[in-house]
Amino acid sequence: MAILPIVTYGHPALRQKAKPVTRDDDVRELVENMFETMKNAQGIGLAANQVGVLKRVIVIDVSELEAYKDEKPLVLINPEVIEMEGEWDMEEGCLSIPVVRDVVNRSEKVRIRYNDFDLNEHELEAEGIPGRVILHEIDHLNGVLFIDHLSPGRRKFHKGTLLEIKRGELEIPYPVLGSQEEVS
Ligand code: NI
Repeated sequence: MAILPIVTYGHPALRQKAKPVTRDDDVRELVENMFETMKNAQGIGLAANQVGVLKRVIVIDVSELEAYKDEKPLVLINPEVIEMEGEWDMEEGCLSIPVVRDVVNRSEKVRIRYNDFDLNEHELEAEGIPGRVILHEIDHLNGVLFIDHLSPGRRKFHKGTLLEIKRGELEIPYPVLGSQEEVS
């Protein structure tokens, strides 16, 4: 297993649409590394785009949160939202946009379809924080960031910090790749 550098705001991989995982892809090692990378950065969700890999792969582990301590880690391959219901506000952050946090309105309940490692199809219903993380991470696979959901005013409020991240001026407590660096 390896801790991979997380690409930060301004990196093109965060704005690209990830491609579906096919029979020709073996993503087991990628998934292991993503879990290790996420844990090291104390995150609860990570999309492959965030380690510069444009494949539709997400890992989630909310068990560090007291209210979800019995939740099992999730590996979602080729996830797709099939139903959404309700809405609620909650503050979010993102390992690719360190320091910036803001309230995002998302669906309360979500139903998704996804694949396992053998590309068998499954369905899953989630709400609360797990549901929110799933939606945040599926956004990543589509090149969408949580700050895209904010009002122009709130985006303007974060502009200075975003610029600092882009320029690599922020001290970040886990390995990162700046906006201009190539993924190896
Ligand atoms: Ni994120």
